[in-house]
Amino acid sequence: IHNMVFSSSDHASQLVAGEIADLIKNKKDKGENCVLGLATGSSPINVYAELVRLHKEEGLSFENVISFNLDEYWPMDEDNVQSYHYFMHEHLFNHINIKPENINIPNGKIPQEKIIEYCLAYEAKIKDVGGLDFQLLGIGRTGHIGFNEPGSHYNSGTRMITLDHLTRADAAPSFHGISNVPKKAITMGISTVRSARRIVLLAWGQNKAEVIKETIEGEVSPSVPATYLQKHKNTSFILDTGAASELT
Ligand code: F6R
Repeated sequence: IHNMVFSSSDHASQLVAGEIADLIKNKKDKGENCVLGLATGSSPINVYAELVRLHKEEGLSFENVISFNLDEYWPMDEDNVQSYHYFMHEHLFNHINIKPENINIPNGKIPQEKIIEYCLAYEAKIKDVGGLDFQLLGIGRTGHIGFNEPGSHYNSGTRMITLDHLTRADAAPSFHGISNVPKKAITMGISTVRSARRIVLLAWGQNKAEVIKETIEGEVSPSVPATYLQKHKNTSFILDTGAASELT
């Protein structure tokens, strides 16, 4: 699917899940693995719900899927309900037949002195399995993709970052207060995301309208890292009418 504005994010999510399912099946027919880059947050929830339905009701198999999540808070225990590790199992992995050893999520408990080495290994593992076939993205109000906050370099790789104040404020309700939101995270970089052969960014609701306008119509700039996607040849922006409402 190409850039598109939908009146219902549910319907849009079903189409995106359908594209992912077709990719998984095509790869399977060729005897190949399908490497998926996955996002957390509210935006992809219905895509995952539809993938679970396709697995349960239509026999979609995830046996040939290898997944890499974009990011994780740091420090963060994987069994903490706020962790992205927990989120992914709750919304997707616990309900499908992906092999546990094929699931990759940045480790929020990696000791500080091992972070650089750990991030390089995460990056190397993506390359070793053939690179990302498909990257699913949401977008933060700062213009972040993954947790690549304003200032992120076009050629950045997987690394530890400091979360923007606005990002922490947006996460505050689910952490019962901004003081409980971690100050750091591990994220795939802009170059990691750009290396994906296909990218689909989801944005729903009026509160994303301003950043979506900047992302699609603004100048490419590190101050809105999502604008880097303008240079990627196979990216689609999937929006609802609220998120698209500021576009000219
Ligand atoms: C999540 C991620 C973030 C979110 C973004 C939007 O893994 O990388 O970039 O996609 O913060 O979050 P929601 O979808 O909750 O509005």
